[in-house]
Amino acid sequence: MIVGVVKESFPGEQRVALVPSSVPPLSKSGFEVVIETGAGLAAGYPDSHYQEKGARVLPTRDEVFAVCGILLQVRTPGANPDAGQADLGLLRGDQILIGLAQPLTAAQAVDAVAKRGVTLLALELIPRITRAQSMDVLSSQASIAGYKAVLLAADRLGKMFPMMMTPAGTIQPARVLVVGAGVAGLQAIATAKRLGAVVSGYDVRPAVKEQVESLGARFVELPIETAGAETKGGYAKEQSDEQIRKQRELMARVVAESDVVITTAAIPGKKAPVLVTADMVRRMQPGSVVVDLAAEHGGNCELTQRDRTIVDNGVTIVGTANPASLVPYHASQTYSNNMVKLLQHLMGKEKQFRIDRSDDITRETLVCREGQIVHPRVREAMGLAPLAGPEGSGG
Ligand code: NAI
Repeated sequence: MIVGVVKESFPGEQRVALVPSSVPPLSKSGFEVVIETGAGLAAGYPDSHYQEKGARVLPTRDEVFAVCGILLQVRTPGANPDAGQADLGLLRGDQILIGLAQPLTAAQAVDAVAKRGVTLLALELIPRITRAQSMDVLSSQASIAGYKAVLLAADRLGKMFPMMMTPAGTIQPARVLVVGAGVAGLQAIATAKRLGAVVSGYDVRPAVKEQVESLGARFVELPIETAGAETKGGYAKEQSDEQIRKQRELMARVVAESDVVITTAAIPGKKAPVLVTADMVRRMQPGSVVVDLAAEHGGNCELTQRDRTIVDNGVTIVGTANPASLVPYHASQTYSNNMVKLLQHLMGKEKQFRIDRSDDITRETLVCREGQIVHPRVREAMGLAPLAGPEGSGG
């Protein structure tokens, strides 16, 4: 089975879906790797490194599409709305496309992929179960985003993070608030702590308190009803307008006292909740910084502008929508390791590649198959009736 990797075409995307060190384990598992020339360059992986590891480098994108049975991308057309359109015409019905696809929101692109007859595995849907942890790109990339958010904040802040007692006087540590303590938020807390800041964390899921505290940060307790805030899968449920209003009101003081606010709050498949209003930003000290990791999903801060850094009333608001791509070497390495595990899983012990819907990881990740959208949750999000028969039982 030939695995193809092309250069990412999303503007500013520097990651690559497969790095050279992933070629040998894939070859051992029975895959052959072909790569478009220059595909890994922006992430720090030249063609020669792929060749040394046994990959074939092809001169054009079209040639990679033409020879491969499986195409690996970081962003399939669903997660690459404009430039990704060009790939639709290159895809064939006998191909398997694996990558991020925003399947719950990018209805048009998912539908277009299905119409080509392509088999689509959307990595956002990999189940959050122990067995699939090594394939979980949302986690690997969120962790890097959380780390980078702190560096972006530190770079913009006119203060230092650590406390310093010097002959020239004592410098107080920066106060950092992280809102949303999932994978990205916990990594942001850990990174800010390592830099010496005084860190607080808040999440609507009460189960997170212990994790925040185990990193040496303070958990912000807000007197809000949080029972039932978590789904069975561990995600936050969408809150009511009234709950969000109350949360903002109670959080305003903590936000005003912070030098840095990093927001990561997300609800899968929905627009991010606005938790930091313009008024709350105006109550922060001039020179403070907000880094909004939810910028790609509409933003947690009312003033966030996607992919722009603005200054409002002296407060800098960073809306970098794709922060993992700013650490492309390691973001690609971890993404690629996730891909190796997924491909090896699909190959199975018998070294027979198959899309086996009786396997829960495959079934829950499979969005398009044989011209149809087969994932129940994606069908529901698109307003399509459930499929009858075995196709309708997955997801
Ligand atoms: P996410 O990216 O969907 O959301 C980020 C955080 O925002 C979450 O912690 C969520 O609770 C929080 N949030 C949502 N609305 C909020 C609000 N109004 N105020 C404050 N915070 C709000 O979440 P992520 O990082 O993908 O993690 C979700 C869950 O999945 C976590 O429980 C995590 O531990 C779990 N997980 C499990 C894995 C596994 O078992 N293999 C792997 C990775 C994550």
